[in-house]
Amino acid sequence: MIRFRNILAAVSAVLLLGLASSYMPIAAAGDLPTEKGCKNLKDADSVIKGWCTAITRKKGNCLSCHHAIVDNWPEALPPGGNIGPPFVAMGARFPNSEDLRAQIWDATAKNPNSSMPPFGKHQLISEKDIDNIVAWLSTL
Ligand code: HEC
Repeated sequence: MIRFRNILAAVSAVLLLGLASSYMPIAAAGDLPTEKGCKNLKDADSVIKGWCTAITRKKGNCLSCHHAIVDNWPEALPPGGNIGPPFVAMGARFPNSEDLRAQIWDATAKNPNSSMPPFGKHQLISEKDIDNIVAWLSTL
């Protein structure tokens, strides 16, 4: 009986740990790569690919205008700009990811005078890149 209880305790501990780690925000799950670390992304998931597209200067370059509120900002990465609003609570503020996508695809649809480049409309980054950025932003 005692052994059975021990096994039960061990199994539930493992289950709890698993649950806890799956609820950890992506930013806490490990160091986010810097632009240099983003060069080898073969096995990365869409969230990390989205982060990389956003921070890479020849891709989204989103940080030139936006700061992103993430838990473990890589030390080597300069903070983002303040021309656009900070990326914070995006999942809550954009419950419909299509709205987020539309903003990135063509910011001028909502604000004709927007200084934000119409990334999709002008094919500055690919449709897949935009999907990945939306996946990343939705975790914030
Ligand atoms: C040249 C500056 C600039 C760049 C580069 C830029 N943005 Fe923006 N962004 C803005 C501004 C300014 C706004 C505020 C709304 C407006 O004027 O259209 C904005 C608004 C947004 C919003 C809506 C935020 C909110 O809180 O309502 C999102 C989402 C967004 N940008 C995502 C991105 C992403 C993703 C990238 C990179 C692929 C990016 N932006 C690149 C300037 C920029």
